[in-house]
Amino acid sequence: MPLSQSADTLPLPPGDNGLPLLGKTLSFFRDPDFALKQHQKYGDVFKTKLLGSPTLFMRGYEANRFILSSENQYFEISWPPSTKALLGPLSLVLQTGTIHQNRRKLLAQAFMPRALSGYIATMEQITHQYCDRWVKQTELTWYPELRHYTFDIACKLLAGLDQGSKTNLGQAFETWTEGLFSIPIALPWTKFGRAKRSGDRLAQALEAIIQQRQQSSEPGTDTLALLIQAEDEAGQRLSIAELKDQILLLLFAGHETLTAAVAAFCLLMAQHPDVMAKVRSEQQQFPVHEPLTLDQLKQMTYLEQVLREVMRLIPPVGGSFRTVLETCEFNGYQLPKGWMVFYQIGATHQDETLYPEADRFEPERFSPQQMQQQSADRQKYGYLPFGGGIRECLGKEFARLEMKIFAALLARNYDWELLPDQNLELVRLPTPHPRDGLKVKFYPFNPDSSFQSRSS
Ligand code: HEM
Repeated sequence: MPLSQSADTLPLPPGDNGLPLLGKTLSFFRDPDFALKQHQKYGDVFKTKLLGSPTLFMRGYEANRFILSSENQYFEISWPPSTKALLGPLSLVLQTGTIHQNRRKLLAQAFMPRALSGYIATMEQITHQYCDRWVKQTELTWYPELRHYTFDIACKLLAGLDQGSKTNLGQAFETWTEGLFSIPIALPWTKFGRAKRSGDRLAQALEAIIQQRQQSSEPGTDTLALLIQAEDEAGQRLSIAELKDQILLLLFAGHETLTAAVAAFCLLMAQHPDVMAKVRSEQQQFPVHEPLTLDQLKQMTYLEQVLREVMRLIPPVGGSFRTVLETCEFNGYQLPKGWMVFYQIGATHQDETLYPEADRFEPERFSPQQMQQQSADRQKYGYLPFGGGIRECLGKEFARLEMKIFAALLARNYDWELLPDQNLELVRLPTPHPRDGLKVKFYPFNPDSSFQSRSS
C-alpha cells in the first residue's frame, strides 16, 4: 500500500536481526521452521537480517497479493549474489521492466498449447524408457533418478539434446546447480568456484550448439529452434549470448523444480494408497494403449486435484525475494526502500485459516465443489506453487503437462513401496527432497495382487 503518512512515523515490523554480520542467515538455511517460529513470535510480518541485508518476511494471502501485484511499482525481483553471478546477465529472471515484459512474451511462445501438444510424445517416450529401467532395478534410490529423468526431458525439448544427463553437459550442469545458492567466493575448492568453472564449460557447449543450429538448414522443433527464429518488438533476433543465457535458465528452471514435484507425488502416493487407488480407477476410463492427448489429460480431473494437493503440501519453491523499490506500508508497518522482502509460498499453503488441518494430504480440497466456494482472489494468492503476477512461472503449463503424463503412466502400469529404514525427512534447499533420496521397491502394477500386498 502507498505511504499515507511520513515514513518516520510508521514503525518497522518487530523482529530479531541476529548476529552483527551474519544476521539470521545460518538459521534461515539450516532450520526448515525458521520462518514459522519467527512468525509465531512476531506475527504475520517480521524483520530480520539475511545475507547482509535487512529483510522482511510477510505471510498471508493479502501479503502475497500486495507484493505480487505491485511488482515494478514497490517491488522488484532480487536474487542472491551467487545466483546472479552464475545465471548470466541476459537471463529472463534478471531482466526487469519493459525488456522483461518483451522477452517474456517471446519466450512464452514455447509454452503455448500448440507447442505443448508437440511435447507429449517425447515426454511419454522418455517416461517409458525410465520406467523400463526402474522396473529392472527392482529397488532404487529414486530422487537422483528422477533428476536425470526431468533433465533428459528438458534437454530434449528445450535444446534438442538426447540423454542430456549422460553427457558432459549433464555433469557440468550438476556442479553449476550446486553453486547457485552458495557463498559467492570463487576459489578452486569452493562450491561457487567449481560452479563458475562448470558455468564456463556450459556456456561454451551451448554456444557451439546454437551456432551449429543457426547454420543448419533443419531448424528443428524444440524451444531453441523457436527462439533462434523469433524476433523481438524491434524485429531483432536474439544474440548468441542471450540465447545461451535463456536456454541455460530454462534448463535449470525446467528440471530442478519438476524433480521435486514428481518426487513429492511418488512419496505421497506411497503413503496414501487409498488416493492412488482412485487415481488408478480414473485412468481406466482412458484407452491405455493409445498415445496420450492434451484433451485426455484435461479430462483427468481427479489426478489434477491430486497434483494440486501434492504441490500445496510440498511446494517445490518455498518463496522468493524482492527488493523494496519505494518505501511503502503494509498492515501499519513501514517497508523501507532497499530492504529485501520474502513472499512465502510454503507458509501460505500451511495457513490453517485457508487449509484446515493443513498437514493432512487431502486432494478433495481442490474438488470443483470446494473451489466454487472460494473467491478468485483467495484462489490466486492463497495457492501459488507457481508464484503470481508478472513473474508467475513461465513454464507452468509445461510443468503441469509433464507431471500429469508422469503420474498417469506410472499409475496405469506400476506400483512402488517405500523401503524400510530410511530418513524421509524433507531437506528444503534448493528444492524439497527426502534426506535419504527416496528408496523404493518398484514393480509392475498387478490389479489382482495389489490389494493383497497392500493389506498384508
Ligand atoms: C513444478 C514445477 C515448477 C514450479 C513449482 C515452478 C515455480 C516457479 C515459481 C514459484 C516462479 C516465480 C518465482 C518468483 O516469484 O520470483 C517461477 C518462475 C519461473 N519459472 Fe518456474 N516452476 C516450475 C517449472 C518450470 C519449468 C518447467 C520452466 C521452464 C521450462 C520454468 C520456468 C520459469 C521461468 C523462466 C521463471 C521466471 C519468470 C520470470 O521471471 O518472468 N519453471 N517458477
